[in-house]
Amino acid sequence: MKVIAIAAVDRNGLIGKDSELPWNIPEDMKFFKDATREQIVIMGRKTYDSLGKALPKRENAVITRDLKWHASDARVFNDLLSAIQYFKGNLALQDKTIFIIGGAEIYSLSVPYLDEIWLTEIDAEFEGNVYFPFYRNGCLELASFTRVSSRPQSDLHEGSVRYVFSTYLKKS
Ligand SMILES: NC(=O)c1ccc[n+]([C@@H]2O[C@H](COP(=O)([O-])OP(=O)(O)OC[C@H]3O[C@@H](n4cnc5c(N)ncnc54)[C@H](OP(=O)(O)O)[C@@H]3O)[C@@H](O)[C@H]2O)c1
Repeated sequence: MKVIAIAAVDRNGLIGKDSELPWNIPEDMKFFKDATREQIVIMGRKTYDSLGKALPKRENAVITRDLKWHASDARVFNDLLSAIQYFKGNLALQDKTIFIIGGAEIYSLSVPYLDEIWLTEIDAEFEGNVYFPFYRNGCLELASFTRVSSRPQSDLHEGSVRYVFSTYLKKS
């Protein structure tokens, strides 16, 4: 069962503005939804709160330190490794992929467990205050990962923000 972090970042590694995304890019939203549909998504409690509910048609897990926190539509874990071990140990879910869907705190914690990182790399600078760890000046600064593919957006038009869909693999 692969563990993949999926995120959209701007040139400075920005991923969030308070509890929101700093941009509205429908093609990226569709990419995220298509990739994660019917799969397992693990997120931090703040990202769950910003979504307001679990993502439909996915197995949802939320990480929180609050032992009393619970959600009717998601599994709750008090550490990331317990969540990953739970899903990896569940025979009924062996054909699924675990997607780490943010935010910044959970991306940071996930690095030791990741097989791949899928980044939508936006070639622009937005305003915000939440950053993907290890991403600066348009580059992922994780020596243990290498970029293996990068596909440009399909909805490029005059004046639109430019971005690519990149896949990074953990070096063996
Ligand atoms: N651009 C993108 O692709 C993307 C994707 C997802 C999210 N985002 C953005 O990211 C922002 C949210 O990210 P964030 O970093 O502020 O929050 P987050 O990672 O979603 O959640 C943080 C919470 O996770 C829990 N947590 C963190 N470390 C933990 C640990 N070691 N053990 C147990 N629980 C732990 C804590 O919950 P408790 O406080 O409940 O203990 C903490 O407050 C929003 O702006 C959102 O829009 C962007």
